[in-house]
Amino acid sequence: MGFFDGLRRNKKAAATVSEESKKEAEKSDSKDVSVDDSSTEKKEAQADTEQKTEPAGEESNSEGENPEEEDSEEGVDDYDPAYEVDESGFKVTPIKSYSEKKPVQHVVGSTKIISIINQKGGVGKSTTAINLSAALGEMGKQVLLVDLDPQGNTTSGLGVDKSQVTQCVYNALLEGVPLEEIIIPDVCDGLDLVPATINLAGAEVELVSEMARENRLKDAVGAMRGKYDYIFVDCPPSLGLLTVNALVAADKLIIPIQTEFYALEGVTKLLESMKRVKSRLNSQLDIFGILLTMYDGRTTLSRQVAAEVRNYFGAKVFETIIPRTVKLSESPSYGMPITQYDPTGKGAIAYTNLAKEVIERG
Ligand SMILES: Nc1ncnc2c1ncn2[C@@H]1O[C@H](COP(=O)(O)OP(=O)(O)OP(=O)(O)O)[C@@H](O)[C@H]1O
Ligand SMILES: [Mg+2]
Repeated sequence: MGFFDGLRRNKKAAATVSEESKKEAEKSDSKDVSVDDSSTEKKEAQADTEQKTEPAGEESNSEGENPEEEDSEEGVDDYDPAYEVDESGFKVTPIKSYSEKKPVQHVVGSTKIISIINQKGGVGKSTTAINLSAALGEMGKQVLLVDLDPQGNTTSGLGVDKSQVTQCVYNALLEGVPLEEIIIPDVCDGLDLVPATINLAGAEVELVSEMARENRLKDAVGAMRGKYDYIFVDCPPSLGLLTVNALVAADKLIIPIQTEFYALEGVTKLLESMKRVKSRLNSQLDIFGILLTMYDGRTTLSRQVAAEVRNYFGAKVFETIIPRTVKLSESPSYGMPITQYDPTGKGAIAYTNLAKEVIERG
């Protein structure tokens, strides 16, 4: 596989990382209790992930655990039926078929389809797609994440080996294959994935000559309404046809903005594209939230940019700000969302808070 494979398989590096995680977890253990006030489900999910990442006997804030959830897991610290963690700490997500999906535990009401979009590269779209989806899944929501980027960062970041994927979102867009035949269920608690492989790179060009080329994703994900609470689409860094498909398919948009120089560069163009799609193809399209990412509170620049963005977008900006943390950049190379990789750290807390805000916004 790629560059990160060496890192994943490097036991020494993994051991160092998990050692650091433990220390940081110990440090932040007491702080974390206050964040964990949402729901029993969340506590269970957190306690569950702690079982996998913390050594046996580690004190944890899991008073609220549900004994029923625990029984089959007792005495097994490093194994979850949903996935395996190999000896180097890399999560190996099994590629199951949709028919093997765990039964949904609640009645899904209306489905919200949200595209995570910004044609600027490297602003935190995929990081947000993975970690927000996983946090909502752990809170008991049913979530589908569509990787619409040929880079496939979201797919590999969730521990899926792209070389083993036989059908990806390309097949839905260009061949009309139903998503049920493509979805990899249960990549995390409550989270299913529509993967992307390099095949998708051809879609941008191939779609040009197709009929109803802007509506392909809308038709595909529209068929899944009623099966998920949230469907997220992770967009590529361009305003090409794939992104137009994401604009047409979405009810709402989340726009991550990196708190750095030129943060708002390109946002005007994105808003123009949004308006164009709204007037012609998707009249209900609107911004769900602007998300400030990679925030470093120690720098004046980060604070100034955050203030500027809040000034420009007002209440559209999420209260939650995603901090810059090394753990967030490491977690995809271990195939895990931050809530599994570093459940008590700043990144997991931020994405859990974002998930709560997303639920509150309705
Ligand atoms: N809050 C954060 N703290 C530290 N590193 C981060 C954070 N968010 C993202 N990163 C890192 O920054 C890089 C870009 O993030 P990400 O891949 O999420 O951006 P993107 O907008 O999806 O990029 P692209 O446009 O290429 O798809 C990645 O290496 C990621 O691990
Ligand atoms: Mg990305």
